[in-house]
Amino acid sequence: MSDRSLAAGAPEAPPRPAVAMRGVMKRFGAVQAVNGLDLSVPSGTCYGLLGPNGAGKSTAMRILTGQAIADAGRIDVLGYHLPAQSKLARAHMGVCPQDSNLDVDLCVRDVLAVFARMYRVPSDARSAAVDRALALSGLTARANDRAVALSGGMQRRLLIARALIHEPELVLLDEPTVGLDPQVRQELWSLIVSLRERGATVLMSTHYIEEAERLADRVAIMSAGRVVAEGTPGELIRAHAGRCGDTSGRALTGAWAARPRPPARATRQAAPPSRAPRPPRDRRGRGSARPACPRRPRGPRT
Ligand SMILES: Nc1ncnc2c1ncn2[C@@H]1O[C@H](COP(=O)(O)OP(=O)(O)OP(=O)(O)O)[C@@H](O)[C@H]1O
Ligand SMILES: [Mg+2]
Repeated sequence: MSDRSLAAGAPEAPPRPAVAMRGVMKRFGAVQAVNGLDLSVPSGTCYGLLGPNGAGKSTAMRILTGQAIADAGRIDVLGYHLPAQSKLARAHMGVCPQDSNLDVDLCVRDVLAVFARMYRVPSDARSAAVDRALALSGLTARANDRAVALSGGMQRRLLIARALIHEPELVLLDEPTVGLDPQVRQELWSLIVSLRERGATVLMSTHYIEEAERLADRVAIMSAGRVVAEGTPGELIRAHAGRCGDTSGRALTGAWAARPRPPARATRQAAPPSRAPRPPRDRRGRGSARPACPRRPRGPRT
């Protein structure tokens, strides 16, 4: 905006959304995973992505992180145009994927230290960043255990702490609370609230409607690769209450509106989910002895 227009009292442009996707398409063979996706995530908000299995939530997130390249459409993340500026955008993003990609042979501290280096946390701040992430995930006492020896829920907490190690502007959480016990889930909810309060933007997918209602400022419901409803949780409930029985996504929103209501968000006291989520299968030796992590020499990189 020019000085002249400021002086004339011209209205300010609306703030740039943290994420803007327009007409995004992504096909895997015969499957149209994302099909004309329009999504706008306002900066500094927590935005929920809901939708049934296969709706395209994870694919949309993978496109935002540059792990998948869209076939068509326009994508802007934190002002960077994707895929050309994916690397620049990624430097300001923290990502917790749906499926764990932890290097489970490393010890917990090293999992975090590797990411601190990768995300260029200054060398003199790295150790404090790792300690902060350990405290955040409640894993300080397990810092020298190999990640493979953690329970499924602990590994999930480590994944989330790893995503936050460089204090990203935008945090993508793909079903972050799957497999967490109710208490840890509540702690994670508090963490998400605090992330937003410090100005970060959070985009999270979830199957838990009470989670979206409690945490999200706005919600998009996806079905068959596109958004079929968008608004504040309250708006969606009002607009779709009672409309069940079709396959366009209204059935989901209708079911959502008809559900038993969780405690009001303002209380910041969440009820535990009515059905405890099944913890993810651990095929990597959970419950085995906890070998101490061999200390590695610190790299010289600054
Ligand atoms: N790498 C891939 N190769 C082939 N098909 C894929 C791939 N990734 C996703 N798909 C397909 O794209 C569709 C959307 O998948 P996606 O994982 O984005 O859904 P989702 O909304 O995250 O589902 P869920 O809630 O189960 O995690 C599905 O039909 C899936 O099988
Ligand atoms: Mg998914």
